[in-house]
Amino acid sequence: MIPPIEHPLPRRVVVRPGPLEGTVSVPGDKSIGHRALIIGALADGPCDLVGVPSGEDVLATADAVRAMGGLVHLEPGDHGLDGHVSGPLQPPSEPIDCGNSGTGLRLLAGVAAGMAGATTLTGDESLRARPMGRISRPLRELGARVDGPDDGTRAPLTVHGVIRDGGVLHSEVASAQVKSALLLAAVRAGVGITVTAPLPSRDHTERMLRDMGLPVTHGEPGDDAPASSTTPGSGDPSVGERVVMEPGATPRATTLIVPGDPSSATFWWAAAAVGSRSITTPGVCMNPGRTGALQVLEELGASIVVSEHTPAGSEEVADVTVEAGTGLPGGATMRGRAVVDAIDEIPVLAIVAALSDGGLEVADAAELRAKESDRIASLARLFAALGMQFDARPDGFRVPGGQQPRGGTFDAGLDHRLAMTAAIAATVASEPVTIAGFASTASSYPGFRDDFVQLGGRLEPEQ
Ligand code: S3P
Repeated sequence: MIPPIEHPLPRRVVVRPGPLEGTVSVPGDKSIGHRALIIGALADGPCDLVGVPSGEDVLATADAVRAMGGLVHLEPGDHGLDGHVSGPLQPPSEPIDCGNSGTGLRLLAGVAAGMAGATTLTGDESLRARPMGRISRPLRELGARVDGPDDGTRAPLTVHGVIRDGGVLHSEVASAQVKSALLLAAVRAGVGITVTAPLPSRDHTERMLRDMGLPVTHGEPGDDAPASSTTPGSGDPSVGERVVMEPGATPRATTLIVPGDPSSATFWWAAAAVGSRSITTPGVCMNPGRTGALQVLEELGASIVVSEHTPAGSEEVADVTVEAGTGLPGGATMRGRAVVDAIDEIPVLAIVAALSDGGLEVADAAELRAKESDRIASLARLFAALGMQFDARPDGFRVPGGQQPRGGTFDAGLDHRLAMTAAIAATVASEPVTIAGFASTASSYPGFRDDFVQLGGRLEPEQ
């Protein structure tokens, strides 16, 4: 077991204005951390783990793997936690608590659908309010039974396997969690599957499975990826991604490396951009489905240098520097794929945009309402608390440029990314900002407070 964090994070903090500057190593990627633990436990032998992040979300998945009969050993390493994981996984005897983690719950629901027997998965108040019909529906279509409140559209979910072979499923949302849940159900059941979606989403699961010898082909419609003729793929304009996994193989045990988390790094890139100082984050995952924030920051006028590209397991990493600039002369619009590629980074990008000349318009982003909080509503509250203008829309928002936050108080509730976004906004506010719900940062980034202070930030528990 990992010892709990030594100094529990304060629930309320006060952040005083002042720029951040320097170099910071971000924790391992949360998405890849969950996958390393789960896919590692589905492999044909023990897998070594390197760089697993110690956030509460990923540790909840480690505990879930243990509850399903897997062995997980983790101890502090050079960057995050190192150790090993092995299976096999079986239905647990007790309900599994996934805490705040949608990724953990949805991926594990997939694994559960691949096993005979019943698995119950639940989580905190935020997670129990999030939509689960997106996994219940396709898992049922594949022959699993899924029980839960509101016809299985909310957790707690009880999933009874086992799914059938050769299913062709279309996900109505471009969600890597849904896609991965279905692929992992098929891996655990040893069957083949085809998954289509309106747009491509992050492909960490496909990369890891391919690296472990599984025949997973990943292409956009019109590619020559082999698929059953019933796939609602090629030629259908509602299908922008198509993933095919052939039946039968078990993932081959290997070393699973977790690179730095670009979603965590974006807070520091944003701090550099708004504070006109330089910040470097070494060893960040450069998966093309995860680097959309860099594109938007560049459009807003930030100056970015990416160097030292290096392979890291099934991914690639690089060092990223956002350089001291002379303002943010640009403006940006995000829609379609740009939204999927930066879905978790949009809150802090909205702050950078407010300080830019041209601002930011976001559309096609109703998914923001289905995250750890309704992030369009949460951003509207944050902007109001800091005296800034924010026009909420059903599927996005518009932030005018040329604004500056004033001081205020904001409650992030259980949403870690809103708490960290408020802290970055506070660095350029005219007065101190009080943030409630700050302990939520432990979900993805327990060291956020320490890194903030190490970069020169002034963040203290509220007295
Ligand atoms: C994740 C995918 C995204 C993202 C989440 C992590 C993953 O969610 O918002 O934080 O690890 O697959 P969706 O796939 O539901 O969009």
